[in-house]
Amino acid sequence: MVKDTSVLLEEKRVFKANYRIVEEAHVKNWEAEIEKGKDPVSYWAEKAEQFEWFKKWDKVLDESKKPFYKWFTKGKINLSYNAVDRWVSSDKRNQVAVLYANEHGEERKLTYYELYREVNKMANALKNLGVKKGDTVSMYLPMCTELLVSMLACTRIGAVHSVVYSGLSVGAFVERMNDANAKVLITADGTYRRGKIIDLKKIADEALLQCPTIETVVVVKHTGNPIKISELSGREIFYETLIDGESDDCPVEEMDAEDPLFILYTSGSTGKPKGVLHTTAGYMVGVATTLKNIFDIHNGDLWWCTGDVGWITGHSYSIYGPLLLGTTTLIYEGAPDYPDPGAWWNIVEKYGVTKFYTAPTAIRHLMRYGSKYPNLYNLSSLKIMGSVGEPMNPEAWMWLYNKVGKTKIPIMDTWWQTETGMHMISPLPISPLKPGTPTLPIPGVDADVVDENGNSVPLGKGGYLVIKKPWPAMFRTLYKDEERFVDSYWKEIPGGVYNAGDIARKDEDGYIWIQGRSDDVLNIAGHRVGTSEVESAFVSHPAVAECAVIGKSDPIKGHVIKSFVILKEGYTLNTNLIEDLQKHVRYELGPVAVLGEIKQVDQLPKTRSGKIMRRILRAQEEGEDLGDTSTLED
Ligand code: WTA
Repeated sequence: MVKDTSVLLEEKRVFKANYRIVEEAHVKNWEAEIEKGKDPVSYWAEKAEQFEWFKKWDKVLDESKKPFYKWFTKGKINLSYNAVDRWVSSDKRNQVAVLYANEHGEERKLTYYELYREVNKMANALKNLGVKKGDTVSMYLPMCTELLVSMLACTRIGAVHSVVYSGLSVGAFVERMNDANAKVLITADGTYRRGKIIDLKKIADEALLQCPTIETVVVVKHTGNPIKISELSGREIFYETLIDGESDDCPVEEMDAEDPLFILYTSGSTGKPKGVLHTTAGYMVGVATTLKNIFDIHNGDLWWCTGDVGWITGHSYSIYGPLLLGTTTLIYEGAPDYPDPGAWWNIVEKYGVTKFYTAPTAIRHLMRYGSKYPNLYNLSSLKIMGSVGEPMNPEAWMWLYNKVGKTKIPIMDTWWQTETGMHMISPLPISPLKPGTPTLPIPGVDADVVDENGNSVPLGKGGYLVIKKPWPAMFRTLYKDEERFVDSYWKEIPGGVYNAGDIARKDEDGYIWIQGRSDDVLNIAGHRVGTSEVESAFVSHPAVAECAVIGKSDPIKGHVIKSFVILKEGYTLNTNLIEDLQKHVRYELGPVAVLGEIKQVDQLPKTRSGKIMRRILRAQEEGEDLGDTSTLED
């Protein structure tokens, strides 16, 4: 029997918002907003009023077929219309909607009106290719304006998009395209990666040999990389040729609130990838509301989310959220440290980015180079920063807060998932912050930490992170696999709650500390220990840049902690340092942190979105099969 977590990473530092933040904030009274959110039905219905509906909904929430919830039933709406057309008929018509920049210093800007025309052309072109409402269109594209245009063109005509991250290999790509039964594939002649061009068309060609459902391949000329394209085959066509001469007026499809919007694949630790299905209206309401309130979006903002559109972060917060709010979104094609570790700070300075949203993996990486690079640039345009994807180690949080934000800018550590579609646990700009926690569930979201019987655990004790009430941007099912949807998320914990698959604990203020994925959890002498706290303790040592820990089977203790560390420049792992690390971690966490071997590595296995894949380390240690490695980087 596994006992409660007794390892606590003590964090007493609290950072309060300054008066400027409070004055500007959309939500000034947190308690009042939370109070309103206690009735999610009326709360989210009010937020849905921000859009133009072709027909209002009959019912806000239909709970008759749990866990297959429906939101805004019988409502008619179109995402593309609300993200583009609505602004064209406002004073934002000539405002930049999307600003593309890349590692070579090139840029492309589209105003809302220019975006509108290109989306309409592409929508007409897709229709001419035979794409109808409900058909699936796959995309294997770099961060580029054509990706955004293609997604909006799909949602305009009711086609379902399935974006495959451009870094995935042939096998993973084939699996996703076939599962989604895609009719059209949109790809490009290449993508820039650290000074090189990766030929996406070549990878697509190889994949297409195994994808019988694809009828047309559209190719964007993005890098100018010479590629083989057989336009005569009738199956392959350049994007420019396709949209050339198309009318820039394409009628909008009136979508049912619950019509499918997109499929996005996320890997499970076992079995094939899960096709997470999102639908129209609830998703729109969830992403627009959260972005507006959490990052306090106002006229004049320049929003930059560094997440690739191949992941949910890019879908919700590089594209749909910002456009639904009529702001300017920056999409960047390039790594944080190419051509040098000042690359991203250069972008912030050059364009005057006001809101910056990134991931802990990038911060830990940039932190290795110290404060030299952020100091080279003028970062005074920044007003709010944010993070998503993994627990933010307190040390990384402090670095971002001190060195980039110069102690003036709040950091929104947002917890959410591909499945949740929108932010779920996060501070608002006015919230008191503690480094390392996404703080509290946002207004309108009911999250809790429970035991295996579904009962709330006392403060300080570890348990399963669950969502107790439905929320509008929730995924509706796993594509073509309702059984897996029910089994993976809704069954294990009683009470009809959504099991997020993470373990967490609440501190004395109710703040939620994410301790890691429940699959990764360590069991040390009967104590359940989250990976994130041990790793954060390592990262708070001056010699350590990154760390991953796993439980290695031990006949007596259950698990002992095996740690893999990447050291900062100038350090080597000798016996002195090992001893010092052991003392440091034990001091931070208490005696339960029984450390076994500490191993120095140059790299950690990560997903292509930057999450540490501990199960790969574990499988290697135990000599087991590596499982699904389709999202593994290198
Ligand atoms: C983890 C990304 C701690 C968590 C939007 C979750 C986090 C998984 C945070 C979902 C955070 C995400 N703090 N952990 N702020 N944000 N996670 O589907 O384990 O790629 O379950 O969605 O990432 O990852 P996904």
